Amino acid sequence: MAFDRGKFDEIIAAFTVDPAHLREVAADFRHDMRLGLAGSPDSSLRMLPSYLGLPTGEERGDYLALDFGGTNVRVLLYRLEGNGTYETLTQVAKPLKVDRSYDYVGAGATAEQLFDFLAALVDEAIGGDQKTPYLLGHTFSFPSAQTNIYDARLIIWTKEFAVRGVEGAVVNDLLKDALVRRGLTNVTPNAVVNDAVAVLLSAAYINGDTEIGAIYATGHNTCYLEPYAGSAAQPTILNMESGGFQKLTPNRFDTALDEASEKPGEQRLEKMVAGRYMGVLFDMVLAELLGTPERRRGFGSVDIGRILEDQSERAHAAADIVRTATGRTLAAEDAVLVRELARAIVVRSVRLIAATFVGTVWQTAGAGKIRRQHIAVDGSLYEKMPYVGENMRRAFSELLGEDAPLVDTIFAGGGSGLGAALAAAMTEQAGRG
Ligand code: BGC
Repeated sequence: MAFDRGKFDEIIAAFTVDPAHLREVAADFRHDMRLGLAGSPDSSLRMLPSYLGLPTGEERGDYLALDFGGTNVRVLLYRLEGNGTYETLTQVAKPLKVDRSYDYVGAGATAEQLFDFLAALVDEAIGGDQKTPYLLGHTFSFPSAQTNIYDARLIIWTKEFAVRGVEGAVVNDLLKDALVRRGLTNVTPNAVVNDAVAVLLSAAYINGDTEIGAIYATGHNTCYLEPYAGSAAQPTILNMESGGFQKLTPNRFDTALDEASEKPGEQRLEKMVAGRYMGVLFDMVLAELLGTPERRRGFGSVDIGRILEDQSERAHAAADIVRTATGRTLAAEDAVLVRELARAIVVRSVRLIAATFVGTVWQTAGAGKIRRQHIAVDGSLYEKMPYVGENMRRAFSELLGEDAPLVDTIFAGGGSGLGAALAAAMTEQAGRG
């Protein structure tokens, strides 16, 4: 059976962001930033204050970091050595979900169970040491309303997380209680940061020239340093929760995906761009092309990456992956189309994200010139997914023209962990913890 070519072309067009639309998204994003800064309810960006500015690069000392919010949870012990340098002394990591074994993502788990799991990992990282005092920075990668650097309440779960009893709670209190249950009264969580904020802190510590940080992984989000120019307020990193950006034109697959998700209506940009959803979109389109209604065959962004890495003329990887998941053997020309579909999903994702980056650059430049700067990005998609770097650059040149060489993205690998340690150090130095 060959795919219906007319239908295929219609679908690819629905996943295409043309230059005019790209510009519109960038402009709408900047507009939403402005509305958000002015406190307007019409903004789809939350613009959450982090209670942190940038580090000086001279932070020193040993700090624990708990990095929670994606597929894996990690606990690390860092030695910050100043001068933008550091050493990772210990690192442990565990998936939050193992099929037929445990699941700390879904609604089957309670807050207590989840945080006991996290505390056990902290315990493992410090080898059961219940004496040495440790300060811990907590990267909690979900929209949280903060009133200070310690106190962050989860507003709403994203990325299909659904653990009971966490929404509305102060997450560091849940963590502290779990550490006490575990006998780890020597570990004090003193700071909580979003992962995008942590990435910006880490890049500013190491590189300088960085005032925008982002995550491109299971989820997606961007933060930036808001200078509050002309006002008395201190420059503060704002977590935009850009995955919640709404001013977009979702196609019928995006709409169906949203309706079937844990939180319909929320995180519309994230559902169009992030790793958690790419495989689902791919699956939905494939089902339509194959004429098979059933979905949820568990495609992930890793499968999309594998399909795209294969440059062979007959797109063998696409055929293999579809055969394994569906039992259907594709003709070579259909396998090539499946690869094209995977590419369209990825390219759309990169272009939409690039537009939001440029919207942020425009907003921070204000009426002045665009500064030379890096945008720090952490996450497996940015690191590993084919076509990301080149499409990001292409979108920057479409939007920024001759200013495009001033702005680049840099990989801030592990930034979501290091940034938590920096937040703990900055909080301690400021005498706040
Ligand atoms: C969350 C953000 C987070 C991003 C990347 C999103 O789902 O809402 O807070 O930064 O994922 O992990």
